[in-house]
Amino acid sequence: MNGTTALEVRGLSKRFAPRKGQTESPWILSDLSFSVADGELLTMVGPSGAGKTTLLNIICQVDAASGGEIVFRGETMQLGGALNPGLSCHIGYVTQDDNLLPWRTLIENVTFPLKVQGRLDAAALAHVSELMKTVNLAGFERYYPHEMSGGMRKRASLIRTLAYDPPIILMDEPFGAVDAQTRTQLQKDLLRLWNLGRKTIVFVTHDIGEAIALGDRVLVLSRSPSRVIAEHRISIPRPRDLSNFYALEGFADLYETVRKELL
Ligand SMILES: Nc1ncnc2c1ncn2[C@@H]1O[C@H](COP(=O)(O)OP(=O)(O)OP(=O)(O)O)[C@@H](O)[C@H]1O
Ligand SMILES: [Mg+2]
Repeated sequence: MNGTTALEVRGLSKRFAPRKGQTESPWILSDLSFSVADGELLTMVGPSGAGKTTLLNIICQVDAASGGEIVFRGETMQLGGALNPGLSCHIGYVTQDDNLLPWRTLIENVTFPLKVQGRLDAAALAHVSELMKTVNLAGFERYYPHEMSGGMRKRASLIRTLAYDPPIILMDEPFGAVDAQTRTQLQKDLLRLWNLGRKTIVFVTHDIGEAIALGDRVLVLSRSPSRVIAEHRISIPRPRDLSNFYALEGFADLYETVRKELL
């Protein structure tokens, strides 16, 4: 981390258009503000339905905000009018579902963004191959998504985003819906990958343990209408042994604090 702000969200609010027969729809996000430093792994924890996916969709320009401002690398984003999903490939998004293309092989899925961007050269392929090795996917290049386990698909979706190297990556509960052991392995993979390049990451989860074990800092979100209700710097030294979160120095106290904040 060099102290430069990568992303700043100021007073963000969101409500969806009212449904038929409704005059007003509820606020999902309300006056939500935070910032992320360059190279920081920021985690956000909030209950189901808090608006976490909605928040990431807005940052990634997949959805529009109702109010507020987002400044990305010093420039204020256009939040009204036409959206620019992924902000011209500057914002990577590992979505809650892996969204692999079922008719493409693993390697075709992972290299797809590079191909679309016209950047699939020898150097990019070498980088992809390195990433595949790091997460133990080497040898499975020709598998189709339906031939892969849930954990393999999650790893594929993770490196598909890392492969095209966006300066910031949003991750939406990327390790949900896998068993506990696979989840621990994925978390280890993520920290290993993050260590290679110290990318700026915003990692959203409803799992308090995961948020503390992975992050440099954790933000606690309220129930919808969501805003940031607490912020904690995580001073647990790195490298962290993720096999047993609870044994990490300072983990248990912070877990208890966040658990109470979420009540
Ligand atoms: N397109 C939409 N139209 C109307 N309401 C929506 C839409 N998308 C999300 N919502 C509502 O916004 C609220 C927040 O949803 P969101 O998916 O952002 O929550 P979340 O925090 O990601 O939950 P989870 O942890 O279960 O993934 C929910 O009440 C949901 O019904
Ligand atoms: Mg969600």
